[in-house]
Amino acid sequence: KTKIINIEVLDESALADLEAVASLIRSGGTVVFPTETVYGLGADALNPQAIKKIFAAKGRPDDNPLIVHVASLDEVKPLVANIPEQAKKLMQVFWPGPLTIIMEKAASIPTEVTGGLNTVGVRLPDHPIAQAFIKMAGCPIAAPSANRSGRPSPTQGKHVLEDLDGRVDGIILSSDTDLGLESTVIDMTVEPPVVLRPGDITLAELREILGEVAVSANVTENVVPEKISSPGMKYTHYSPKGELVVVKGSPEEIRDKINRALSHHKGKSMTIGVLASDETMGFYQEGLIISLGSRNDPKEMAKNLFSRLRTFDELGVEKIFAEDIPLNNETLALINRLYKAAGYAFI
Ligand code: TXA
Ligand code: MG
Repeated sequence: KTKIINIEVLDESALADLEAVASLIRSGGTVVFPTETVYGLGADALNPQAIKKIFAAKGRPDDNPLIVHVASLDEVKPLVANIPEQAKKLMQVFWPGPLTIIMEKAASIPTEVTGGLNTVGVRLPDHPIAQAFIKMAGCPIAAPSANRSGRPSPTQGKHVLEDLDGRVDGIILSSDTDLGLESTVIDMTVEPPVVLRPGDITLAELREILGEVAVSANVTENVVPEKISSPGMKYTHYSPKGELVVVKGSPEEIRDKINRALSHHKGKSMTIGVLASDETMGFYQEGLIISLGSRNDPKEMAKNLFSRLRTFDELGVEKIFAEDIPLNNETLALINRLYKAAGYAFI
């Protein structure tokens, strides 16, 4: 049975609850905890048996590596072969925060964590409960997003319960996560560094610190790089149960294409949804219209994406038309998740 606790503020009774689930980690169990990005499904990163439980609970392919979470900068050194100067700079500027830094791994990191790679991704989350939990557990915590493999990442406690109640040893429920998309992942073992997954820390911010930074081609395109540097890239991701299609074109073309599709489906028994914005919701008269937020606030749209996809599921929507979003530095992460959720299906 899963031990579920609820923490909003870290008062004395919360600390006692936290200690109870931290002890589950020490005895080799799995515990879901909140971070500023999405909820994570954690286990002792140095215990291969515990790590296997993460993969089993999620139904995750075992060659997809996990991020190791720490609560302070000095915990990084024992996890990696060395810390490159440039990586140190990133830690100083962006940690605690939504940035995962890939470095060469130390021998102490089990291959179960890294999917057989000789590198490891490390992150210090910017969340008081996550930090307190990691400290209490007393070990680095390996944690993927706390969703069943292939599903949208969980940004709310109810998403975690839907996917993992009964499949993990403990769950820490808390407020909805701040950012709603997973961390930026940057590979610092290559020159120039490569962003493998965009997130709230943008390319422009990284380039300000590092100079040249490359972006993996598959961030916005449906390609599997020849040398798969991040095995997570090749799997289906974030998908709602309904069929999701991204509608491309000028704003007018998008509006007209979606309205044509809606009138085509009118009177049929299929439930159709539209993922729109505050500014464009009024364009559509049929179907279940849901807004991601304002076009002027990409962070709000990013925060809402995964929960909106799950809302379509709750409403039994069978086909979802999502408006494409103009690509820029601030929208790259959002577009990456939307395209992957759609399996790169475009009209
Ligand atoms: O915000 C986040 O990063 C959340 C919270 C819980 O911290 N975690 C998360 O983990 O999103 P996950 O497992 O869902 O995504 C980790 C991504 C995967 O795409 C994986 O392939 C990549 O990071 N990754 C992890 N370690 C890697 C490594 N050594 N080399 C290349 N890619 C790696
Ligand atoms: Mg994930």
